Amino acid sequence: MPYLVRLTPRSIAWLLGLALVALCVHAAGRGGEQGAPAIADNPPAPVQLTAAQDHQRIMNLLHITAIRRGADGDPNSPNAANYDESKANVYASLPDPLVLKDGKKVTSADIWWKQRRPEIVEDFDREIYGRAPQATPKVNWEVTSTTREMHEEFPVITKKLVGHVDNSSYPQIAVDIQLTLTIPANATRPVPVIMELSFSPEFLAALMKRMPPPPPGAPSPTAWQGQVLAKGWGYAILIPTSVQADNGAGLTQGIIGLVNKGQPRKLDGWGALRAWAWGASRALDYFETDKSVDAKQVGLEGHSRYGKAALVAMAYDSRFAIVYVSSSGEGGAKLFRHDFGEQIGNVAGTGEYHWMAGNFIKYDGPLTVNDLPVDAHELISLCAPRPVFIGGGAAQGDGWADAKGMFLAAAGAGPVYKLLGKMDLGTTEFPAIETALIGGEIAFRQHSGGHTPAPNWATFLSFASRYIKGAPVN
Ligand code: GCU
Repeated sequence: MPYLVRLTPRSIAWLLGLALVALCVHAAGRGGEQGAPAIADNPPAPVQLTAAQDHQRIMNLLHITAIRRGADGDPNSPNAANYDESKANVYASLPDPLVLKDGKKVTSADIWWKQRRPEIVEDFDREIYGRAPQATPKVNWEVTSTTREMHEEFPVITKKLVGHVDNSSYPQIAVDIQLTLTIPANATRPVPVIMELSFSPEFLAALMKRMPPPPPGAPSPTAWQGQVLAKGWGYAILIPTSVQADNGAGLTQGIIGLVNKGQPRKLDGWGALRAWAWGASRALDYFETDKSVDAKQVGLEGHSRYGKAALVAMAYDSRFAIVYVSSSGEGGAKLFRHDFGEQIGNVAGTGEYHWMAGNFIKYDGPLTVNDLPVDAHELISLCAPRPVFIGGGAAQGDGWADAKGMFLAAAGAGPVYKLLGKMDLGTTEFPAIETALIGGEIAFRQHSGGHTPAPNWATFLSFASRYIKGAPVN
């Protein structure tokens, strides 16, 4: 299936690489401006490093001279990604979400909430995604347009919004969060909303230009919106890159740069995934003020890098009601300790390290993934007891994201859900492709398409309908 093969995450990474080169050239061009002395009373301009320079800076702070390279998408490379399941389980065990650091077992929900969960959060904060600052600037949401229109056969009202982040502490950096909200026009009461963390229209347009046309009958990437409207729910689209750029050179810009006043981040400072998740929470703050939205029933969806971000947002903000985590792979719902597809060396390298905390890189240096204090099953467990749907595609086409590794993490979060009186996946056996495991609060399905969220939307929405209740639709 050449279409699926060409749509692998590697090709996306390749395109991203091109974008990075362009950004580096742009950044280098701006480097000259740095030499000018700062005008008295004005804070210094943001530091501008390339991703490679910032990555090296972190390596120096960590006292690491080399990291291991990641897996290679090229099957003929000596370092090719492993796609043989019999060789994937090289680590004997996972950290136990229900054992405290002092070795005692977590025997009650109370111990989970008061002791174990904070321990896991601290590990993710310090070592994996970085700490969001305790205080972040206020966001002032402006509705820039309200349009009555048709979406397919549904009359809707679409609001375009910009979240202006207060930058009075450092006016050199402006952050304006892009969000749209689409509500059924005939809604008579506040509606549930599913919010997608989405690739920007520019990124998607560039991607589409380079890709062959989708095969006949392939669901369109926006078909989910009609499926959501058909339930009488609304949908929203957040552009994470308006919160924080998707590259290392941007770490002294965006919300991370604003809070750090243009300086490079500390080793445990937040990376892009945590910043994107922060943006999702600010959108939810807005929904709490918008009378057309039932803010207690806001769900999230994200695919690939934004699947990672959606899961992080769900884990860190208990106001989100449900999440669809699509093909999130390494750094998302996939176990680091499952050697299949993408590996830590890819995420720790200059193209992706900005998603994570600086501290994360050391697990690809002298340390290994087996030294990680936590793994993806514990990220999922932070969402408990709220419902989580983990999806991925077939090994051919989406092997890089590793559906089995995501399944194992979903299964590994089960004991926490059970402790909290909820249901787990119901099995620890990897199901046949296209089998929906949606009986409990942790759900999983591997579709037979490639690296796309589209085929799992219908299953996610029937799972979600158990929890999310809108007004009856005529
Ligand atoms: C790359 C990266 C993945 C990521 C993907 C995407 O392939 O290695 O981790 O999920 O891009 O976001 O499309």
